[in-house]
Amino acid sequence: MADKKTVIVTGGHGFIGTNLVRLLINSRAYRVVNLDALTYAANALSLADLEGNPDYVFVRGNITDSKLLASLFEQYQPAGIFHLAAESHVDRSIVNPEDFIQTNVVGTCRLLEVARAYYADLSEEKKSEFRFLHVSTDEVFGSLGADGYFTEDTPYAPNSPYAASKAASDHFVRAYRHTYGLPTIITNCSNNYGPYQFPEKMIPLMILNALSGKPLPVYGDGSNVRDWIYVEDHCKAVKLAFEKGAVGGEYAIGASNEQKNISLVNKICGILDDIAPPVEVPQLRERGLKSYTELIQFVTDRPGHDHRYAIDSARITRELGWQAEVGFEEGLRRTIDWYLSNPKWLSQASGALYVEWIEKNYAWRADARRESK
Ligand code: NAD
Ligand code: DAU
Repeated sequence: MADKKTVIVTGGHGFIGTNLVRLLINSRAYRVVNLDALTYAANALSLADLEGNPDYVFVRGNITDSKLLASLFEQYQPAGIFHLAAESHVDRSIVNPEDFIQTNVVGTCRLLEVARAYYADLSEEKKSEFRFLHVSTDEVFGSLGADGYFTEDTPYAPNSPYAASKAASDHFVRAYRHTYGLPTIITNCSNNYGPYQFPEKMIPLMILNALSGKPLPVYGDGSNVRDWIYVEDHCKAVKLAFEKGAVGGEYAIGASNEQKNISLVNKICGILDDIAPPVEVPQLRERGLKSYTELIQFVTDRPGHDHRYAIDSARITRELGWQAEVGFEEGLRRTIDWYLSNPKWLSQASGALYVEWIEKNYAWRADARRESK
């Protein structure tokens, strides 16, 4: 096999980052330098098994720290960068947009600037190999009505502070390609699900709440639609785009799997009823619960809640031959199994800071709903 490539992955301790770092290392083609600030969203247990692996280095640090970035490029001479570090939760961006500006916009700009200086000094051979892959989201395109799909040509129309900060970062990445010739690639993916996702997000939150007999808070009337992709399929697409994507290329990624929120929650409850029936969970049996669906509670909607996301990923299929491999039923079962089998990880993720967030995000929703009745 050819020499392994050294790459920097930012945000490698987060949900998608953890899955991507594993994919890269298991491919035996990469050495990974994982730069992560370990915010609330990171989980130290996620990559604990890679400690001591000669193909893996972890550096705790912030992407806004230009000096640290420059020293990492100098020390590791990477053949490229997978940029994932971000504040990623829409509800938190509504409560505190500033963090999103700092990490997603300022942090991305600092990383671009350091990458530009590093790239300028590379040999022509190394230049031809180098890629700056920016992992972005379909939320930059705004919201769809009942019909249509997002493609690479959809105009940007971000609606939440999170989406606006990701859109701004995409624009800077594009500008560094156009102005300085930095070889960038942007991927815009739909909603990911799977192992290692922090339980502030819809699917793990519903699993965790169900198992502890807490309400399952569905925003609004549950009719909003998301297009779900199993995280490993997304990571394979990102790796492929890095290796084979056109310089300056943009790729929309999705698994053509639209689900209304309420039907998704019902599916999660159905699988849990099957593999962890409430009658077998002591604190739920005592309450006489027959199905987890009895825990569903409609709560006050997310302000500015985008109605529908759906991706047409024809370009990445046509140009790079990528296709999602994991069906939704199978992916959801794998995900639920993973959370049931990893109570230590889940308890690490749901400590005091998590409880504080849940109180902040959900107490007023339930109160407002009660008052409006
Ligand atoms: P996540 O919140 O699970 O993880 C983010 C990681 O980034 C964490 O490990 C955190 O510690 C780190 N981080 C945050 N701020 C940092 C900083 N200033 N410096 C260094 N590290 C920092 O996020 P995720 O869901 O894994 O998303 C990863 C990327 O993929 C993000 O850029 C997100 O916008 C994008 N994305 C996510 C989805 C999705 O459904 N989750 C879909 C499409 C695109
Ligand atoms: O589309 C890609 C994006 O998907 C990523 O860029 C984001 O980082 C990621 O967080 C995700 O954004 P969403 O806002 O779609 O994901 P979330 O899991 O927060 O919510 C999914 C849907 O479920 C959304 O319509 C809101 C709804 N929801 C969410 C939560 C947390 C609820 O009904 N109740 C909840 O408690």
